[in-house]
Amino acid sequence: MTRHFLSLSDVGGDALAAILGDAMDRKAARRGLPKGQPDADAPLKGRVLAMVFEKNSTRTRVSFDIGIRQLGGSGIVLDAGTTQLGRGETIADTARVLSRMADAIMLRTDDHAKLEELAHYASVPVINGLTDLSHPCQIVADLQTLLEHGKALPGLEVAWLGDGNNVLNSFVEAAGLMKFNVRIGVPEGYDSDPAFIAAARAGGARIDTYRNAADAVRGADVVVTDTWISMGQAHAEAKLAAMTPFQVNSALMAEAKPDAVLLHCLPAHRGEEVTDEVLDGPQSVVWDEAENRIHAQKSILRWAFGQI
Ligand code: CP
Ligand code: NVA
Repeated sequence: MTRHFLSLSDVGGDALAAILGDAMDRKAARRGLPKGQPDADAPLKGRVLAMVFEKNSTRTRVSFDIGIRQLGGSGIVLDAGTTQLGRGETIADTARVLSRMADAIMLRTDDHAKLEELAHYASVPVINGLTDLSHPCQIVADLQTLLEHGKALPGLEVAWLGDGNNVLNSFVEAAGLMKFNVRIGVPEGYDSDPAFIAAARAGGARIDTYRNAADAVRGADVVVTDTWISMGQAHAEAKLAAMTPFQVNSALMAEAKPDAVLLHCLPAHRGEEVTDEVLDGPQSVVWDEAENRIHAQKSILRWAFGQI
């Protein structure tokens, strides 16, 4: 059966743990190599990954492109605006054609239903490179970063500050699979998807919502934030005003455990959801997190090809 990586639940907790272990092992094994040099075992030699972008990207695009090369394969980037998809060719026909030409497809799009439709009609693995609903690849890199910084996942207290968005949904999904807890500090009206929260609770995670930022962060092991305005959302002054008390600054970080780390999927809007002082400060692990996008993508790809 074709393995699609549309959500972390498609993978499950055991396979997610195996993906994380593989990502860390492979990262260690190629330490010091030039970034464009393939891994010694080149496990995806000859495979081609088609990457379709209907939204902007720096990290996801570069990490998948470099990642597939390090695995011995190659990638091709399709910007929707310059493909027939952008002129109205259907998702189904695009899926059929790309399945004949490439060995896997990554899609970044707005509507999650488009991703599901692509997977339905594709006969090769389809990977979620971000939708308005979720961003599971990001969370694999985030969890890898936490493990590398000595944060064992079960029982971990993760505080999320700001908007209840796609990245938070995938964090909450991961909590149910890996048994950590999420304290969501979010203003009223900007809550995350209740279906993700219900599923995580059913998986044994404690997920609580706070309307006061300090209450959410108090005693946390990890503080996470993201842009207040996601791609495709209108720039709304009312939303920015509601978010302001949830800014991650030094005073707020001081409420977390002294050894707490800061995650941010990036791009950051410095001075909005996070201050320079915190983003560039000693508790920030965001550059490791960004690098880990490469290592995480590679192991996600290996999983999709049945190698994990
Ligand atoms: N974090 C993330 O997905 O970054 P890009 O939008 O640059 O891909
Ligand atoms: N929530 C952000 C994440 C960007 C990587 C967005 O969807 O724009």
